[in-house]
Amino acid sequence: MLFPLIKDLIQFPPESQDLTIRGWVRTKRELKNLIFVEVNDGSSPGGIQCIFDRGSSGHTQLAPSAETILEALPTGSSVAIRGRLVPSPGSGQVVEVAAYAIELIGDAPTDTYPLQKKRHSLEFLREIAHLRARTTIFGAVARVRSRLAFGVHQFFQEQGFHYIHTPIITGNDAEGAGALFQVTTLDLKALAQSGKAPDYREDFFGKPSYLTVSGQLEAETYATALSRVYTFGPTFRAENSNTTRHLAEFWMIEPEIAFADLTDNMQLAEAFLKFLFTLVVRDCAEDLAFIEKVNAPIETGITATLQNILDSRFVHISYTDAVAALEKQASSFAFKPFWGCDLQSEHEKFITEQVVGGPVIVTDYPKEIKAFYMKLNDDEKTVRAMDVLVPRLGEIIGGSQREENYGLLENRMRALGMQLEDYAWYLDLRRYGTVPHAGFGMGFERLIQYITGMVNIRDVIPYPRAVGQAEF
Ligand code: 4AD
Ligand code: MG
Repeated sequence: MLFPLIKDLIQFPPESQDLTIRGWVRTKRELKNLIFVEVNDGSSPGGIQCIFDRGSSGHTQLAPSAETILEALPTGSSVAIRGRLVPSPGSGQVVEVAAYAIELIGDAPTDTYPLQKKRHSLEFLREIAHLRARTTIFGAVARVRSRLAFGVHQFFQEQGFHYIHTPIITGNDAEGAGALFQVTTLDLKALAQSGKAPDYREDFFGKPSYLTVSGQLEAETYATALSRVYTFGPTFRAENSNTTRHLAEFWMIEPEIAFADLTDNMQLAEAFLKFLFTLVVRDCAEDLAFIEKVNAPIETGITATLQNILDSRFVHISYTDAVAALEKQASSFAFKPFWGCDLQSEHEKFITEQVVGGPVIVTDYPKEIKAFYMKLNDDEKTVRAMDVLVPRLGEIIGGSQREENYGLLENRMRALGMQLEDYAWYLDLRRYGTVPHAGFGMGFERLIQYITGMVNIRDVIPYPRAVGQAEF
């Protein structure tokens, strides 16, 4: 049997009120005969307050060793505390521990332990990412992340989707953006010394291979067999974008649905986001309340913002209409908007924050700025693409209806100079039993960023990988 967590002890107090608390010391303070020790085990943001009373007698009389340990008990040390759970007279907690014994499990010398009582900046904490989960804010974000990950599976599994593990090492560039990390076992140093060009036939896979940028193409092969599938795994992009919303390694959720068009796709995306918002508001209320206090700049508050979205419908707007709205405000942008331009982050934010004032789905983008697999519209200029934009962040989801017509897909791939042989398997899906199908990708970190209001995406993943950053 595992030891009980503080959260459970508070929620379901044991019958015998005697118990042991295990965790890490957050703070210690003294008031006359009383010593207050705040212990946190990561099961909830609050932890529990343990009170040692030097003047106590009877059942809660202090063990002789306790006095010595308490004397020098540092923040960050790990302890086991014995005591009785009692109703708390103080504000801020319902119960507390009338403690009588303490065991110091692991010391944390005050002169070197980096996490002292005071609040540290998120930038500083990023440098000690191996310890930052011990702060309340990173603990809260980690719990929210975990709950959402499970929620993703709940949402899809309840609707007949099957979870597909698409490969992490691949030979294709699904998005055609060329932002690939190459995987090789060739001895690059020896090659450089010999002055010879690499011969990939001698490489591990016998050809160039990469870390995947998206599991979509492989997911399509299963959607056109199992009807509804999704992937949820790590994806990698060697984009040189040093921004607060880009990572080189991020987790992506990609559903793919057969016999579906863009309207179905938009409905699924909205239902998916709303499901996750509902779940997090219900199950992570305490964590959200804490995060909300820290991320004060969000005027309306996190939970209220999510609730507003739950009560409204996502607005749909075409790219063409969106650009027209942007052009009216052209002077407010660093990058001047025009029909055909890729929407910049400033444009996306303007559309969702100013034009719409909430989540919005922009559809039917020019084919030139979107990936090869998207379905061509009758105008032959735009494709059945959709991006879901949310305030503060911009793009949270990108997706499309796929081109299911063999001839049109082949034309598009040729026009882009793609090697058809490399994608023969993908074209086969259109050659044999083709069906209209659609899907989207949601960056898991973008979702957490949006929900928590954390400003930098590097603070919602345990060990962020970005340009020049791969520590731990
Ligand atoms: O818009 P993207 O590039 O679309 C795809 O990869 C498609 N294959 C998805 C599909 O249709 N199955 O990426 C999808 C989402 C974006 O909307 C964004 O949320 C996230 O992935 N994303 C990133 N998140 C963090 N860091 C990055 N560098 C990201 N690039 C994309
Ligand atoms: Mg996109």
